[in-house]
Amino acid sequence: MRKVLYPGSFDPVTNGHLDIIRRASRQFDHIVVGVVGNPNKRSLFTPMERMEMIRRATADLPNVSVDAFEGLLADYVRSEGFTTVIRSLRSTSDFNAEIAAAQANGMLYGGQADTLFFMTRGELSYISSSTVKEIKSLGGDVSEMVPPAALEYLERKFNV
Ligand code: COA
Repeated sequence: MRKVLYPGSFDPVTNGHLDIIRRASRQFDHIVVGVVGNPNKRSLFTPMERMEMIRRATADLPNVSVDAFEGLLADYVRSEGFTTVIRSLRSTSDFNAEIAAAQANGMLYGGQADTLFFMTRGELSYISSSTVKEIKSLGGDVSEMVPPAALEYLERKFNV
């Protein structure tokens, strides 16, 4: 069985992330969306909130599950026995950051796993979790950028 990991901070999950999850769910037997519990950047939502949003947004995909991890991605990958880790690329700036991370992780995986990249669909490549949070915090409409579950959490958090 090809079980793959799609790790990220998902603070919050966006339609860009969901497109990657949907497309990956057609290519592999099982996708585990791995929410990092202690992202380097400050997160707006708790790991439980981020997991719940993803669960609700992927409820129609039977081969997708959601988990959380702390610490090094490579430790989680090795302890769970993943052989494939998915990341997505929106632009050359993502590429520059992701190639270094994939190479560092490649060393830490010790040959057990590889990183596979999905290209983000052009019409979704402008979306980022930070952009969504900034627009929503200032009262703007992000309903085209995030799934309804994330919109609900954002509205509750910002009271708008
Ligand atoms: N659609 C929409 N947004 C996308 C996207 C897509 N297809 N692909 C990336 N993004 C955006 C996200 O919205 C996010 O935006 P933000 O910066 O405004 O929050 C940004 O790209 C990156 O987010 P994400 O993909 O969630 O990854 P991340 O940079 O937060 O990293 C981990 C997450 C888990 C991979 C990384 O933090 C990690 O490995 N942590 C564990 C510690 C570790 O092992 N460190 C060593 C790594 S070499």
